[in-house]
Amino acid sequence: MNNNELEEMLRASLDDDYEEKSLPYRQLMTYYRCALREVETKFRVLDEQFSLYYDRNPIESIETRIKSQTSVLKKLKKRNLPLTLESLQENLFDIAGIRIISSFQDDIYMLSELLLQQDDVHLIERKDYIEHPKPNGYRSLHLIIEIPIFLANEKRWIKVEVQFRTIAMDLWASLEHKLRYKKDLSQDRLDEIAEDLLEAAEICSQLDNKMTKLKLSETKHPILK
Ligand code: GTP
Ligand code: MG
Repeated sequence: MNNNELEEMLRASLDDDYEEKSLPYRQLMTYYRCALREVETKFRVLDEQFSLYYDRNPIESIETRIKSQTSVLKKLKKRNLPLTLESLQENLFDIAGIRIISSFQDDIYMLSELLLQQDDVHLIERKDYIEHPKPNGYRSLHLIIEIPIFLANEKRWIKVEVQFRTIAMDLWASLEHKLRYKKDLSQDRLDEIAEDLLEAAEICSQLDNKMTKLKLSETKHPILK
């Protein structure tokens, strides 16, 4: 595949030989999907172990997604990057995304540490928007990791974006996202509600702190050395 292969592929999607032409892209997306399965399993294992020892689940829910072809193209174009599969792999670290929702803020740090201490997980980047919220109030812990997937004849390292949120952080982020993309909201109106959103984020943060205090202290078990 040569230059602008992604764009050509989109245009060619109506051609009869599209199946064949799009194979490299679909193959690559399969790798990202497999990587997501691996990471999801890691979290399900941790959750199960906690449920056995402590009779509670630190994970409320898990969501995974693969970035759509259109969003991939948009992002490469916006950043003036070559529209090739190579450039996609080198520059976009959020093709595969997994979101872990917990009830308590301290569970987020515990889960992220337990993930990062596994010897097949490489940390590429860590952004702590809980410790340092974004100016609009967004809070969440983001990791970019790389994990190996084992194919028939090779082992490939694949990047995955992991977002950790409490229920309160997720509630805020989902509503903020919906408002931001609401078609009938003007920029002026968005600027107006920015202050209210920031205030709402502060309330969510207070709620998280309050819930952490209410959480019963657990006796340390050997699984957490
Ligand atoms: P992207 O180019 O959007 O991926 O940003 P980035 O590379 O600077 O990464 P960052 O860690 O800031 O954000 C990555 C992802 O976090 C986004 O794709 C969203 O899913 C989420 N996110 C970041 N900021 C916000 C925000 O202000 N509001 C909401 N709702 N989500 C956000
Ligand atoms: Mg992103």
